[in-house]
Amino acid sequence: MSQPPQKQFDGVISNDLLKQLAYNEKMAELGRISAGMVHEVNAPLSVIISAAQMILREDDIPDFVREMVGRISSEAQRLSQMTRGLLNFSSHDEGTHEADVNLTAEFVLEFVGYEAARRGVVLLRNLDHRLPAVGVESNLLKQILLNLVMNALQAMEGDGGRLMVETVALAENQVGILVVDTGPGIPDDALGKIFEPYYTTKKPGDGTGLGLFVTRTLVESMGGSIDVSSTVGEGTTFAVRFPAAE
Ligand SMILES: Nc1ncnc2c1ncn2[C@@H]1O[C@H](COP(=O)(O)OP(=O)(O)OP(=O)(O)O)[C@@H](O)[C@H]1O
Ligand SMILES: [Mg+2]
Repeated sequence: MSQPPQKQFDGVISNDLLKQLAYNEKMAELGRISAGMVHEVNAPLSVIISAAQMILREDDIPDFVREMVGRISSEAQRLSQMTRGLLNFSSHDEGTHEADVNLTAEFVLEFVGYEAARRGVVLLRNLDHRLPAVGVESNLLKQILLNLVMNALQAMEGDGGRLMVETVALAENQVGILVVDTGPGIPDDALGKIFEPYYTTKKPGDGTGLGLFVTRTLVESMGGSIDVSSTVGEGTTFAVRFPAAE
């Protein structure tokens, strides 16, 4: 189990929190820009999709043309769905102050489907569908889960493995979300450092080392807690718990 690293960071943390706020503001700006872009990209895409559909409705077109236009249509629809997914992810308007942990888990798993397949990682879910909602902004819960899931996928780079998201009811009206991977694990001496800002084992440019720091700050600011346990050679489990919504 990791030790809470606050003590070591007295004095540094306020500086880092400032950086984090600037980062959040940048992300919000990025959200606004991508919302605009999604809108602009979708307008021509819907023209392409409906033009392709009109061609496909014709009777006497050669099979070859039918097949190619069919492909244009389905790829344009895929692009359109993808960009809309991006919009849902970054939009603060759609965020709510209560989140359904199972829906959020499904959303994040769907979102990383391609990243998992590319690494040969099998995604699994074990969701308790009787759970109450948690009093957490849904976009922030998505961000928290995405950070943990992406870390797990990155840890399994090249070797494949399994990644499971599990939701469970806990005592005292709390809800738990577990992200369990079969990756390389984290050595004991590193376990106490992973939540520190700028701690990373990734190549420069690949990771900032802020992911878990931001994740823990977000979780705690919403009344939750986060723990990690890991065995080298077997895998890692991150456990987040939140109080159920009032
Ligand atoms: N599931 C995991 N398995 C193995 N190691 C992990 C896992 N999650 C985190 N780590 C370790 O913790 C370190 C810190 O993670 P953190 O998310 O804070 O930063 P990062 O992933 O390196 O960078 P960034 O989040 O900016 O991409 C990682 O570099 C990695 O060494
Ligand atoms: Mg990370």
